[in-house]
Amino acid sequence: MREVVAFLGLGANIGDRERAIRTAVERLGVTPGIRVLRVSSLRETELVGDGPPQGMFLNGACSIATSLPASALLSVCKALELAAGRTLPAPRNHPRALDVDLLLFGEEHIDTKELTVPHPRLFERAFVLEPLRELGVSEQALSDLRPMPAPRLVTTTREFQAICSTWIEGGCLTGLVPTMGALHAGHGSLFECARKECDRVAATIFVNPKQFGPKEDLAAYPRDLPGDLRLCAKSGVDVVFAPSPAEMYAPGFASNIDVGAEGETMEGATRPGHFRGVSTVVARLFAIARPHRAYFGQKDAQQVAVLRRLVRDLGFPLRLVECPTVREADGLAMSSRNVYLDAKDRAAAPVIHRALRAAQQAFAGGLRDRDALVQVATAVLAGEPRATIDYLELRSEGDLLPLPIGPVAGGRMLAAVRFSGGRTVRLLDNMSVVASFENSGS
Ligand code: PAF
Repeated sequence: MREVVAFLGLGANIGDRERAIRTAVERLGVTPGIRVLRVSSLRETELVGDGPPQGMFLNGACSIATSLPASALLSVCKALELAAGRTLPAPRNHPRALDVDLLLFGEEHIDTKELTVPHPRLFERAFVLEPLRELGVSEQALSDLRPMPAPRLVTTTREFQAICSTWIEGGCLTGLVPTMGALHAGHGSLFECARKECDRVAATIFVNPKQFGPKEDLAAYPRDLPGDLRLCAKSGVDVVFAPSPAEMYAPGFASNIDVGAEGETMEGATRPGHFRGVSTVVARLFAIARPHRAYFGQKDAQQVAVLRRLVRDLGFPLRLVECPTVREADGLAMSSRNVYLDAKDRAAAPVIHRALRAAQQAFAGGLRDRDALVQVATAVLAGEPRATIDYLELRSEGDLLPLPIGPVAGGRMLAAVRFSGGRTVRLLDNMSVVASFENSGS
């Protein structure tokens, strides 16, 4: 049977520490499928990290040859801890009768819900590295095994697919945040939301040519990969997939996803083919990553409605999560395109938010007529000479279908407004006209 050489970290800081470690090694030696090869010397160290006041640790490591799979070896480690009197799950950084960590398992990288190998904190801890060196692990082996700092950047579909498959097979709940880069705090909030809900988070950065019209700003769309990676690192993103157009759409790529009428009004009318491009790239990302959840910003409400339709119609087994719009202090919805605004247009742009809020306030004050509500917002925008309305519509909440003329029970007002002081910049925003002011700023 094939044996793998694995390394286990051993530590204790209550009771007879040395005895607990020696007993664990003896028990390992009589466990079927495990041969103990070498045991390092033991050393005293203080707790690393925050925790309640506690005694010094005694730490060491041992090497074993094992025919067990890594998951079974992990169960052996947990059983040793229990046998030493430890209660599991144990609060982090609390005193413990025995710690047995699976540090290295051959040259394998393992990333499941229960187990990450090499051990994620191994490379920061001298009390683990020193015993490993003593047991013969070379500097070269350590450097080969050192994981790339998160987020890991991958550019090929094959690598990204492999990482996501490992997560899924390892039982991790995986979240995908598709973006076109030039990331800002709005994207940051999508990452945070995904980080809270999922075990692993992947972001994609791809300026998708298919969703830009021939006269649109594809070439000039802002790009800042180093800045994007910094935000992803700060937000706890595990992997960033940033493919080239040729990687995303191999030569001969010919399939396109058309979502029908929902993609042909408002943004779809102004930008023919836009939602076909969005749907095609997002479907492709879903097929590659197979996420359990995918996160999109409510600022692009029509995009969310179109993608919900796509998920429903094609039966992607995932939950689409819509996250609230993040705004600047003056109410302007955050957008990668805000950087294009010249100073005067930037000062004028919060008028969109004011217009939407005016409609919301009018609704709260009792106005119910669909066109009168649109008129309220139109009047506010008309007061700003730098702003030109592309469309302003009150649609049904959720699926964003047209509402009939006459009184409405609420809905979502969607606006696209152009500012042309410097270069022409089209900004989108939307707001529920029924929710209370405090929580409907999205
Ligand atoms: O919202 C965006 O940034 C893009 O439309 C998306 C969803 C990443 C598809 O390219």
